[in-house]
Amino acid sequence: MQVERLTPAIGGLVSGIDLCEPLTPLQCKEIISALVDHHVLFFKDQPLTPRQHRDLAANFGALHVHPIYPHISDVEEIIILDTNVDNPPDNDSWHTDVPFIECPPMGCLLSARELPPSGGDTMWTSCIAAYDALDDEYKLLIENLTAEHDIAKAFPESHYGKSSEALEQLAVARKKNPPMRHPVVRTHPVSGKRGIYVNANFTTRIIELAPDKSDEVLNFLTSFVARPEFVVRWKWKQYDLAFWDNRLTQHFANADYLPHRRVMHRATILGDKPFR
Ligand code: OGA
Ligand code: MN
Repeated sequence: MQVERLTPAIGGLVSGIDLCEPLTPLQCKEIISALVDHHVLFFKDQPLTPRQHRDLAANFGALHVHPIYPHISDVEEIIILDTNVDNPPDNDSWHTDVPFIECPPMGCLLSARELPPSGGDTMWTSCIAAYDALDDEYKLLIENLTAEHDIAKAFPESHYGKSSEALEQLAVARKKNPPMRHPVVRTHPVSGKRGIYVNANFTTRIIELAPDKSDEVLNFLTSFVARPEFVVRWKWKQYDLAFWDNRLTQHFANADYLPHRRVMHRATILGDKPFR
């Protein structure tokens, strides 16, 4: 397996490995070590079936079943993101996946199934590189803060509650997932590096700060992470697979392809409880 660095901050293009075949323990270790190093890995031409996709992800931990997104009918761990004119994309803002649970995902494996003729690129940013670029005074200011993450902010009724069944599912998901608190700055459990752990989609407030100050800090941090020098942009081909470290990255899916359709499959690997 070889890894080509795509930018100084983030991104590795992996070659020399067939993910449709079962992985050896050594290959799993090599992938995790490359992931921690590069934050997001890209593998070209990996035509996985949903079961192969699930089994591949299961090498790296227990899998999450999403409370709202639809899944493959007999593979509940594989989410289907099928966006088109009737289901417009809403992942065009910087976010990390599933921060509303106590032990958010360590990583996600996203497979491109059907792509528009152009557009639909995805970007990832390194929240470690962004944290490193803050000045010391700002680091000190945010060091011991705690933020709240709310599923209701990212999955509003206006988009996800369009039928009575959908509304009911949303109500159940919200009840099972009340707002969750995590440190604003977390330490990566493998590399020991620190990074920013608030995002525009889910983070509602910083509990130690007055509302105005909380908004100010959140607005600053959630726009700071998007600076181009922390970002890698991927132009998908069918059956490309991206594996991102969901602990200290965020991603943004460009929503520039309607009226064309775009279909992606995602497996979500659970992680540990964030700590300072
Ligand atoms: C996701 C997501 C990005 C994309 O799967 O979590 O945000 O490019 N998708 O579809
Ligand atoms: Mn996402």
